[in-house]
Amino acid sequence: MQNSFGEPQTILLLGGTSDIGLAIVRRLASPTLRHVVLACREPDSAAASIAALGADGADVRAVAFDATDTAGHAALIESVVADVGDLDVVISAFGVLGSQSEFDHDPGAAAAAVTVNYTGAVSSGLAVAAQLRAQGHGHLVFLSSVAGERVRASNFVYGSSKAGLDGFAQGLGDSLVGSGASVLVVRPGFVKSSMTEGMKAAPFSTTPEAVADVVATGLRSGRRTVWAPGILRFVFMTFRHLPGAVFRRLPLG
Ligand SMILES: NC(=O)c1ccc[n+]([C@@H]2O[C@H](COP(=O)([O-])OP(=O)(O)OC[C@H]3O[C@@H](n4cnc5c(N)ncnc54)[C@H](OP(=O)(O)O)[C@@H]3O)[C@@H](O)[C@H]2O)c1
Repeated sequence: MQNSFGEPQTILLLGGTSDIGLAIVRRLASPTLRHVVLACREPDSAAASIAALGADGADVRAVAFDATDTAGHAALIESVVADVGDLDVVISAFGVLGSQSEFDHDPGAAAAAVTVNYTGAVSSGLAVAAQLRAQGHGHLVFLSSVAGERVRASNFVYGSSKAGLDGFAQGLGDSLVGSGASVLVVRPGFVKSSMTEGMKAAPFSTTPEAVADVVATGLRSGRRTVWAPGILRFVFMTFRHLPGAVFRRLPLG
């Protein structure tokens, strides 16, 4: 259970090697923190993060998690809870960007990316929500994206998967009202991370640490949606209402 300052005792990161996810864990860490569980495809790849996050005394462990193994998600959450107890903050940070030009020629690759970004988030999100509802407390943070707010031609497979995830997360949050548990939807713009390595930064690009600051403030103030950086809320409010013919001509990459 979080203390009166909103500091969590237990954090589960789904996508345990995500740069943004790990920055959020570091930002939420305090002397109150007792357990961090990094759920990753390759638990061995979390060794450096386990050492760094555990330096202040918290128990940090890695467990195997694959977003595409939807049948195993409920059992995974049960097993994590059996090991570390109630979950105060769960961060759903896994995802793949992929390449639209590859998807155009390989529908199977597009479907695989959508399975990770959307189907895997639905399955694991529902398993987490069942636990938070039963506990009567806890926050579930979803890494959505501005790419889902107005889907553009240059990355419409990724963007549509994030649009689906965003809608799911909002509805799940509504369904949890009154339960004591809550959902925070995070809509970052371009973040300099492993996912975007080698890509030309978009306007208003940001860092994992800055996204983590926005998430921490959002959790503290009970927000249900946050944008990173905040100005993108107004940029995308405008984009959302532009006629298609105008939107298609914007140099958005
Ligand atoms: N970077 C951006 O510009 C940006 C902007 C908006 C939203 N986001 C979203 O923010 C989230 C975190 O992104 P990031 O920037 O931190 O990128 P990242 O460092 O590349 O993290 C992506 C994570 O997803 C995991 N993952 C991929 N496929 C998986 C699968 N099948 N099962 C389990 N885990 C899987 C990766 O694990 P492995 O180590 O095993 O590959 C990695 O931990 C993503 O959902 C992304 O879509 C990113």
